[in-house]
Amino acid sequence: MAEAGIKSMKLYSHLERVSNELIAAGSDPDGPLTVDELSPFDNLHYHGTEAVAHAIQALNLTAGVHVAEVGSGLGGPARFLADRSGCHVTALELQADMNEFAEGLTRSCGLNDLIKHQCGDVLDGPLESNAYDGVVSWLACYHIPDQELLYARIAHALKPGGRIYIEDLTSRGTFTDDEAEIFATKLYGQATQSPAAYRATLEQAGFTDIAIDDLSTSWADFTRTRLNAYRADKDRHLRVQGEETVAAIDEFYAAVDELFQGGNLGGARIVARKA
Ligand SMILES: C[S@@+](CC[C@H](N)C(=O)[O-])C[C@H]1O[C@@H](n2cnc3c(N)ncnc32)[C@H](O)[C@@H]1O
Repeated sequence: MAEAGIKSMKLYSHLERVSNELIAAGSDPDGPLTVDELSPFDNLHYHGTEAVAHAIQALNLTAGVHVAEVGSGLGGPARFLADRSGCHVTALELQADMNEFAEGLTRSCGLNDLIKHQCGDVLDGPLESNAYDGVVSWLACYHIPDQELLYARIAHALKPGGRIYIEDLTSRGTFTDDEAEIFATKLYGQATQSPAAYRATLEQAGFTDIAIDDLSTSWADFTRTRLNAYRADKDRHLRVQGEETVAAIDEFYAAVDELFQGGNLGGARIVARKA
């Protein structure tokens, strides 16, 4: 995958917005930080730490357990997982700048003994084989064009009986031409599957006990509220972040809202076990 292409998704630029928010909240971005100070700003999926807490419960993550996260972004979910459950996390991230930024935040939180940040493309097979009790992922799998290979790689990384917890975009209907263009550029979408197709892909990769929960309505509501709240506080955001960042984030939030409201984009939470 061309790493450069993914920057068409504006959420992946202007990383200094995290430091700007920390300063606005009265924290020192260069000092020691807590996961709770960072959490409002470093989770790039829907429903923030609530969704990560759900994974801890669903996979019964505890100290001594080892999970890999595919597409770890700024490291928010990895730090919350390690901080709350004591589990070890290998945080795999494609984009070098985000990986480096995430690594710095993890050091600031004193979590580098529990979290190993790794830069790479999951399709190249960088995850150790037969090594993980769980593989987790939030809103990364839809970026990955070869879904068959993706789930084969994930299955290979898991120990027998290991489980996945994945939140991902799904297909609910055929995109219009405009929607397809927005999805491909503003979300850097490379693949979406219907829940039924998802199940077949997972079965083919050797997964069993597959549970797929439809989160489409919840995510449509979340992303609509997020856009409205962002616009309602635009003056504040301009003061804290400046014009370029606000324009980029507004464009991204609006694109996501348009796709969910159109009804052809959905989302799901998937839990399954490697047979
Ligand atoms: C929407 S972000 C979510 C980040 C994080 N999971 C979170 O919820 O905060 C998805 C991340 O997946 C990463 N990603 C996309 N394709 C990838 C690949 N092939 N291998 C590893 N990471 C990838 C992207 O670079 C991006 O940082």
